[in-house]
Amino acid sequence: MRYRPLGRTGLTVSELGFGCASWWGKPRFDERTAVGLVHEAIDRGVTLFDTGASYSAGEAEPRLGRALRGGDRSRLVIATKAGTYHAGGGRIARDMSPAAIAASAERSLGNLGLETLGLLQLHGPSVHELDAAMETLAALKARGLVRAVGLNSFDPAVIDHAIGLPGVDVVMVDYNVLRPEREPLIARAAAAGKGVLAGMPLAMGHTRPLVERLRGPQDLWYAARALAKHRGELRRGARFRFLHRLPEVTGSQAALAYVLANPRLSAAVFGATRPEHLRENLAASGLALPSGVLARIHAAQKGVP
Ligand SMILES: NC(=O)c1ccc[n+]([C@@H]2O[C@H](COP(=O)([O-])OP(=O)(O)OC[C@H]3O[C@@H](n4cnc5c(N)ncnc54)[C@H](OP(=O)(O)O)[C@@H]3O)[C@@H](O)[C@H]2O)c1
Repeated sequence: MRYRPLGRTGLTVSELGFGCASWWGKPRFDERTAVGLVHEAIDRGVTLFDTGASYSAGEAEPRLGRALRGGDRSRLVIATKAGTYHAGGGRIARDMSPAAIAASAERSLGNLGLETLGLLQLHGPSVHELDAAMETLAALKARGLVRAVGLNSFDPAVIDHAIGLPGVDVVMVDYNVLRPEREPLIARAAAAGKGVLAGMPLAMGHTRPLVERLRGPQDLWYAARALAKHRGELRRGARFRFLHRLPEVTGSQAALAYVLANPRLSAAVFGATRPEHLRENLAASGLALPSGVLARIHAAQKGVP
């Protein structure tokens, strides 16, 4: 596993991080397998784990806390999010008021069994919410409850605004083969000294046809989410099927190698619920894209069939 600095935070992270979200955190997903994935990731050198207070209807954080219990956590950077919470019945609500953010951070520490959070990110704030939260985030750092602060957002305007805020240490963007348009944003963020994380580096698996992926209950859940929220990605992903027919690497490894080839990125955080996927993905650290593949990715990004 290779490691990179997380911007100017003084923290170093594995260039591949493990996302503790979605199906991974759900009680329907076997706890032993979920915990086993975290342990195996640590054994294979992963030091960055990303979760959120509202992830998996509030179940992901406490599950990650159970997975971390008793082990050596000194090298780990545990990142979580605040500003959204599970409001019951599968509904996610938002509250980015100073009191809610501070209370959320303190609850996260309890859920995760930590004295300090490696990274606290606002979960998809607006520009106004971000501005209003900066003082609270700084106060959490000053109290020693949080090492670094930032946000995740799919809105480039919010990330651009965050780049101009000295108090923001880290930004998480949606960056993958389907999103080359994020590259100038990533370059600006890195030039401003921000740590940059790529969420969804596998484009949620949408470079493969949905039907080929339906093997277990999690696949049905991910497929339902894709049909409800990510039809554009499903359509664009069809141009990248060739990634899954390369002789040298798997499609997921090629997708991760593409993202990690960006030297301005601190880490790519992927989600996986199958141990074989975890192993396959971690083998992408240090992997160069086979010759000619980058040109084919660029052609697909321009819409060339
Ligand atoms: N998605 C969001 O809205 C969002 C927002 C903010 C932050 N994030 C962060 O980004 C992390 C990753 O996002 P994500 O999980 O939505 O997207 P992702 O990592 O791009 O994709 C996850 C999907 O890819 C599949 N997959 C993983 N490795 C694979 C492999 N080697 N071969 C085939 N399929 C593979 C997983 O299947 P299996 O489960 O079968 O392994 C899962 O369906 C999250 O955990 C979170 O920390 C996500």
